[in-house]
Amino acid sequence: MKVLLLNGSPHERGCTYTALREAADALEREGVETEIFHIGAGAVRGCAGCGACRRAGENRCIFVDDRVNEAIAKAEQADGYFFGAPVHYASIAGAASAFLDRMFYAGGSVMAYKPAAVVVSARRAGTTAAYDQLNKYIGINNMLAVPCHYWNMVHGKTPEEVVQDEEGMQCMRALGRNMAWMLSMLKVSREHGVLPPAPEPRIHTNFIR
Ligand SMILES: Cc1cc2nc3c(=O)[nH]c(=O)nc-3n(C[C@H](O)[C@H](O)[C@H](O)COP(=O)(O)O)c2cc1C
Repeated sequence: MKVLLLNGSPHERGCTYTALREAADALEREGVETEIFHIGAGAVRGCAGCGACRRAGENRCIFVDDRVNEAIAKAEQADGYFFGAPVHYASIAGAASAFLDRMFYAGGSVMAYKPAAVVVSARRAGTTAAYDQLNKYIGINNMLAVPCHYWNMVHGKTPEEVVQDEEGMQCMRALGRNMAWMLSMLKVSREHGVLPPAPEPRIHTNFIR
């Protein structure tokens, strides 16, 4: 079992990483392999809406100058996901938004029917808006949202401050344990032939009537 934890911050070892690390350590204590994947600090293009990923049917984005396709390839091998991002102006950071738009548009099918947790980090405010924003990726992609006893966020401007957020860090550990539990349940289900339901052919309506 492997969980991919995506760090959508420009800081490789910042606050978002500190939260994801806590969750990853909890997962590893439950025997789950983890990898924290940094989207990088360079430019990340937004989705051009060109549709090339859909036409090729290969779960790859046509842009190759950032780590999106690498993340999709790793996601294909993973059994579960964490999507973490810092709050910038009460939303997730711009690069994280651009990265996830393309990762899900081109590679959403490799993550469908698998469990995912979202995590946001902020100095002070905008956390629930950013949390909602991240949850929308997993909600539109037939993914299983990992539960917690609180909304998944940590506070702090530096990693040293984040580790002082005892409630936030506890939430990260709970998410890790709950993810491990869901992965075990899914494994047992698969072994007993309980598989995801076959979806109906998708209906796309551009107008409501
Ligand atoms: C451009 C920018 C905008 C930010 N906007 C907010 C904000 O709206 N609310 C907030 O609480 N913190 C805000 N912050 C602070 C970061 O969210 C906070 O320091 C975060 O924990 C950094 O995580 P990181 O180290 O993983 O990048 C902002 C930081 C930057 C650089």
